[in-house]
Amino acid sequence: MIRIAAAGDVHASEATRDRVESAFERVEQEADVVLLAGDLTTTGEVEQAVVLADACRVVSIPVFAVLGNHDFHGGHADEIAEQLADAGVRMLDRSWATCEVAGLQLGVVGTKGFVGGFPGCVLPDFGEPLLREVYAETTRDAEAIARGLRELVHCDLRIVLLHYAPVEATVMGEPAGIHVLLGSDRLATPIAECGADLVLHGHAHAGSFEGRIGQIPVYNVAVHVTGRDFWIIDLEGARDRSSVEVEGPA
Ligand SMILES: [Fe+2]
Ligand SMILES: [Fe+2]
Repeated sequence: MIRIAAAGDVHASEATRDRVESAFERVEQEADVVLLAGDLTTTGEVEQAVVLADACRVVSIPVFAVLGNHDFHGGHADEIAEQLADAGVRMLDRSWATCEVAGLQLGVVGTKGFVGGFPGCVLPDFGEPLLREVYAETTRDAEAIARGLRELVHCDLRIVLLHYAPVEATVMGEPAGIHVLLGSDRLATPIAECGADLVLHGHAHAGSFEGRIGQIPVYNVAVHVTGRDFWIIDLEGARDRSSVEVEGPA
């Protein structure tokens, strides 16, 4: 079993430095790995990322993170990612990484994700090039999730780390009119097809904690939803490969 500390929407800034630092000082006593589901900063300023980077620098357990939409707001997304990477955070952007935790190989596929909506109100791939480019951006995220899950098929545990929601269940609580901006069910398709052990996201501050893609749990770990600095998740060991039938000689 591995113990995951998950948080989305930390929205770090100088004003929250004390809280962020004390949360990260405690986390390694509570978990084996930290996963941060985007909106790492308040308004995408580099000095806000430095607050989080300073907190992460003292953490000895692996920390994985994706950016969120707020981290792009100031036009410094690359610098924010660099600051955090310099502090030892494994920044994922349509990419994947592995680590050894409690004797298990953990694989994390990470990408911000994007908008598009859920059945009943979805953005179409039709009409003006600008609108179709928004659709294509979500497609690129979905394709990266599929690639990552296939690359990590050998891992004992696979987690998908997003900022935007892949299911509507975890945005419920937000006004229905903005669900299209909170995620896309197209992000769920590669997860359903390729399989995963856990999906984490944030972004929907007024959303709901729990959803599913088939049997795969999806948690909205935005701190506004969990009400805690970190939500701790116990993930049971290796997938049961003994159930795989292997054909032998007749
Ligand atoms: Fe947020
Ligand atoms: Fe967000």
